[in-house]
Amino acid sequence: MIELHELTKRYGDKTAVDGITATIQPGAVTGFLGPNGAGKSTTMRLILGLDGPTSGHAHVNGKPYSTSKAPLAEVGAVLDAKAIDGGRSARNHLLALGASVKVGPRRVDEVIDLVGLTDVAHRRTRQFSLGMGQRLGIASALLADPEILILDEPVNGLDVDGVQWLRGLLTDMAAEGRTVLLSSHLMSEMELVAERLLVIGQGKILADSTIRDFIQHSAVGSVSVVSPDADRLIHLLQGDGIAITTTGSERFQVQGMGTRTIGDIAFQNRLRIHELAPHAGSLEEAYMAMTRDAVEYSGTHAHTPASTTVTGALR
Ligand SMILES: Nc1ncnc2c1ncn2[C@@H]1O[C@H](COP(=O)(O)OP(=O)(O)OP(=O)(O)O)[C@@H](O)[C@H]1O
Ligand SMILES: [Mg+2]
Repeated sequence: MIELHELTKRYGDKTAVDGITATIQPGAVTGFLGPNGAGKSTTMRLILGLDGPTSGHAHVNGKPYSTSKAPLAEVGAVLDAKAIDGGRSARNHLLALGASVKVGPRRVDEVIDLVGLTDVAHRRTRQFSLGMGQRLGIASALLADPEILILDEPVNGLDVDGVQWLRGLLTDMAAEGRTVLLSSHLMSEMELVAERLLVIGQGKILADSTIRDFIQHSAVGSVSVVSPDADRLIHLLQGDGIAITTTGSERFQVQGMGTRTIGDIAFQNRLRIHELAPHAGSLEEAYMAMTRDAVEYSGTHAHTPASTTVTGALR
C-alpha cells in the first residue's frame, strides 16, 4: 500500500506537488492521470525516495521507502526506461541487478522470457529501441517479484503486442493482491487496464475514485430517447442544466437528466417512449471535462487555475 499525506514538493517558487493526500490500495491497478507538468513523475519520485518532499510524506507499507530492508522485493519501478547503462547486454544488466538482491540467473531468464526479450538478451542495451528499453525496464522492476509496481508511462513505445501483454501482466498482478500505480496519457488504454484513478492537475488532486464513478459523476453522460411524442416530451424536459439535442424526428439526446426521471416524466404525461438508453461517456471525455482548467501547457489557451475539485464527491 502507498500512502501520501499532505505531500508537497517545491522547486524554487514552482509547486510541483501541492498537498496530496491519497492511499493507493493493493488489489487494483490505479491509473495516475494528469496533464503534462501536473506532478505525476515528481510524486512517483517522492514515493521512491529519489527526491525529498518539501513537507508531508509518502509511505510505502507504512514507512518511508528509503528505509526498506528489501527495496526491490517491496517496489518494482520504471520511471525512465532509457536510464540504463548501455554498454551491457540486457541479460548482464539484469544479472548485475539480481546479484545485489540474491536473485539468480534462473529468475533473470524467467523475466527476460516474460517481457519477450529472449531473442535480444545478449545484445547491448545501447542498441535497444524505445519499446525494447521499456520491456527491459519492466523486466528489472519484476526481477525480485515485487509487491508494488510503479510505472511511469510504460506504454510509451510499446508495440500492439507489448501493450496487450503489459495489460495482462498488470491486471494479473492486481488480481494477486499487489499494488499497481501506472501513469499514462492514453485514456483508452487506461480505461482497459485500471480500476481506480488518481487524477492531479497543477500538483493538486482533482479526483480519487474508481473509473466507473469518475465517468458516471462527470457531466459527459447522456441519455438517448426515441419517442413518437418527442416534441411534447422535449418541452417537458427542458430546464436549468439540461441540454437537449435533436438527432431525428423522433430521436433526441438529453444531458443532465437520468433515464429514471425521463421515464417518469413521460409516464406521468402519458407520452410514449420507444427507446431510453443511457450512454456513460468515455474516460477521455470525462477526463477532458475535468482537466480543462488544470492544463499547465496548452497550445492555444492562456493559463487558468484549476477550478474543479470533486475529490470528496467521488471518494
Ligand atoms: N528537478 C526539477 N526542478 C525544477 N522543476 C521541476 C523538477 N522536476 C519537475 N519540475 C517541475 O514540476 C512540475 C511537475 O513535473 P512532473 O514531471 O512531475 O509532471 P508530470 O505530471 O510527470 O508531467 P508529464 O505528463 O509531462 O510527464 C513541472 O512544472 C516541472 O517543470
Ligand atoms: Mg512525467
